[in-house]
Amino acid sequence: MIDDTNTQIVIKDLWKVYGKDTKRIFQKNLINKSKEEIQNETGCIVGMRDINLEIKKGEFYILMGLSGSGKSTLIRALIRLVKTTKGSIEINGEDITKMSSDQMIQFRRKTFGMVFQSYGLLPHMSVLDNAAYGLKIRGVGKEERYKKAHEVLETVGLKGWEDYFPTSLSGGMQQRVGLARALANDPEILLMDEPFSGLDPLIRRQMQDELVELQSKLQKTIVFVTHDLHEALKLGDRIAILRNGEVVQVGTPEDIITHPADDYVQDFVQDASPAKVLTASSIMSDIPVITYAWEGPKTALTLMRGQKKRMGYVVDQNRKFLGVITAKELQRLLDSGEKYKSIPSSSIELVESVHPDVLIEDLFSVAPQNPYPIPVVDENDRLLGRISSDTIFDSISSNGGNNE
Ligand SMILES: Nc1ncnc2c1ncn2[C@@H]1O[C@H](COP(=O)(O)OP(=O)(O)O)[C@@H](O)[C@H]1O
Ligand SMILES: [Mg+2]
Repeated sequence: MIDDTNTQIVIKDLWKVYGKDTKRIFQKNLINKSKEEIQNETGCIVGMRDINLEIKKGEFYILMGLSGSGKSTLIRALIRLVKTTKGSIEINGEDITKMSSDQMIQFRRKTFGMVFQSYGLLPHMSVLDNAAYGLKIRGVGKEERYKKAHEVLETVGLKGWEDYFPTSLSGGMQQRVGLARALANDPEILLMDEPFSGLDPLIRRQMQDELVELQSKLQKTIVFVTHDLHEALKLGDRIAILRNGEVVQVGTPEDIITHPADDYVQDFVQDASPAKVLTASSIMSDIPVITYAWEGPKTALTLMRGQKKRMGYVVDQNRKFLGVITAKELQRLLDSGEKYKSIPSSSIELVESVHPDVLIEDLFSVAPQNPYPIPVVDENDRLLGRISSDTIFDSISSNGGNNE
């Protein structure tokens, strides 16, 4: 769960310029020039330009961009492996750019866990010792650190592998050890710089799935670098897109897909399949006819005919969705000669409903079974809207636009 009230990382006006005598690029005649011009004129390389970001507690935050766009510079700046040139980075309200080296080392150890693309495991140490390594550095006693290491290895699915050496493990498993090592410190913030980029596609997807599951339990703040759009869309609560050291767009996966800020972002997202990103809520429309379970058949039928519809969605007093009823069935009730004060539950057809955050991709399996537009309900089964199968197919053919 993202804690909206609690911003954990606040980055303000942040610059990183690589090179000598970097302050000079803040002169009037240089500061507005492009990265390329600055490099040509001064030899300095702009790694980050005037970055402003806020990351919330518990958020899965993605940094995405082409190679050289500044992702690693930014994530490394958060732990001051990169010393920034200008601006501030507040973490839990403390500006880390102002900390002394000693303070920073302490702060880093207690606050962060890191996982990088190269697993960074120590080859002569067992899996268990690798997982416990961070704790050892922190001076945690042997018994306690092994206990914790066993625990986190189990968390990442490596129970039984404790005594092996890293080289006898596959890439995916080595990265799990890396993750276990990062988690052993129980860090508030996990930093992951392209952790899955070295893995085969299948293993990679599996690791992504596991990370999603893990995060639903751990609820850490995660800053995750990738240049893979699908990875970003799958994992991220929000995505910041970088180009030439600048942030060009920040948004939820859905924001980014539906409203790319410029051509650069558009290029990124055009390969994305909207069905993998857009959710039911974005294509749902209002219910044309709501039938109240306590109405009599005559009233219900009149309302239905008034809207020129052949069916209605039946709800109870709390707007809880009960099923659908057809005009034909209402007519049958009227013709039967019996007096109905309200709609009998035997006349209500049960149909499958979906939640608004279901991916459109997953609606394809529901749609064919539903003879009617799919009802969308909230977690208390209250009726929110409906989705027709036409809308589902339109949404994927029109590149994700809202089709209502
Ligand atoms: N140590 C360095 N010295 C000089 N330039 C660097 C250094 N590290 C990165 N850069 C430059 O900074 C820019 C951003 O790099 P980086 O943060 O590594 O991007 P990304 O991780 O998105 O690929 C690039 O132009 C890169 O060449
Ligand atoms: Mg990088």
